[in-house]
Amino acid sequence: MTTITLEVNGREITADVSPRTHLADFLREQLLLTGTHIGCEHGVCGACTVEMNGAIVRSCITFAVACDGAKIRTIEGFDEDPVMTRLRGAFSAEHALQCGYCTPGMLVAARDLVHRKAENPALDTRVEMSGNLCRCTGYSGIVQAIDTVVSENLVAPPSAEANSEPWFGPAPGPSAKTATPTASAPASPRPAPAAKKPAAPKTSGPAIARRPIKVEVGDLTVADGVTQFTESFTLAHPVATVWELMRDPEKIAPCMPGLVLDGPPENGALAGRMEVKIGPITAGFSGSGSFRRDDDAHAMALEARGNDRKSGSRVSGEISYRLTPASLPDAAEATRVDCTIAYTLQGPLAQFGRSDIVKDLVGRIGEAFAQNVDIRLRAPDAAMIAPAKLGGVSLLLGALGASLRRAILRLLGRGS
Ligand code: FES
Ligand code: FES
Repeated sequence: MTTITLEVNGREITADVSPRTHLADFLREQLLLTGTHIGCEHGVCGACTVEMNGAIVRSCITFAVACDGAKIRTIEGFDEDPVMTRLRGAFSAEHALQCGYCTPGMLVAARDLVHRKAENPALDTRVEMSGNLCRCTGYSGIVQAIDTVVSENLVAPPSAEANSEPWFGPAPGPSAKTATPTASAPASPRPAPAAKKPAAPKTSGPAIARRPIKVEVGDLTVADGVTQFTESFTLAHPVATVWELMRDPEKIAPCMPGLVLDGPPENGALAGRMEVKIGPITAGFSGSGSFRRDDDAHAMALEARGNDRKSGSRVSGEISYRLTPASLPDAAEATRVDCTIAYTLQGPLAQFGRSDIVKDLVGRIGEAFAQNVDIRLRAPDAAMIAPAKLGGVSLLLGALGASLRRAILRLLGRGS
């Protein structure tokens, strides 16, 4: 057990907690503050949302021991808050609740949004609230209630000091304020300072027309938690030329949008970072790996593992590829690239490992990767496809393919 001291709803509390107790259980079971609800326990539904040091967090994925010294405010702590009072009234007036299970988390997130919209009125209420799921009411009343309170201008723009508060857990929406976890947050095996954030792919340089490249994605199989699939595409370049690029992890990494190596490989070892954004969820996987290369067979195998510090999700996997001569109608020589990808994803982001999402996602990523390889081979200084334009690694709902969009909307409880 670890002794922590924290402030909850203005009251100083000292308590013994086990390292694995999450904040939601601590609040509900040790402090009997049962207004904080627990739904998914994966950081997705938002039912457990509370305020910590002025920013909202998911208490189901925040360890209580990480809250030593923090100021926590639960739904019970907002009784006298003027914005919360107005929100409660607006939720009733707009029929923004039915069973009420989601409502405490919804109100805490809504109050945070009212404050943030005072600073940035352009924030979209639906998008910003997309991290809170309601299973029985529908969202129109909720959005209407929040927008009504926003229109009453109850809140002055927050100060710079308020924006520097620490941040725990994944953001509730893509434009939520961000801050760096404090030293008491769970440690990452590999520190990921700002300097290691992935740089954008090279987007300057001469423009070069992107050529369509068909990517075949094989059937996905899942066995013992390992998801495996194949991808193949053909490039209008000789095998030797393609291999010269694809045999070198440092040269091939920039072709994968969102991926940045920390430095040149050393003795077959790699370290780097992959940034992924899926709807309201942003993840930055920091990790390390190794590679094996067979120059005679034009084959490479890379294995890597990493974790996302924000969500606590972990991924490990292996990508292997082999190059063989092929033919294309308009190319004297061509190369077929056959890839096999196998991975395990654990933690809150694992629910985006469903096969319909993954298949759509890997098709998009594979196509961008193949086109970037083609661009790099045709003009080494040419601009490559940026993640923001990809709609694959930098996934925004508006840029998604129909099936992926439907799947994510289902996850967010907004569609069938
Ligand atoms: S219970 Fe915490 S996000 Fe669902
Ligand atoms: S009111 Fe029932 S889940 Fe939202």
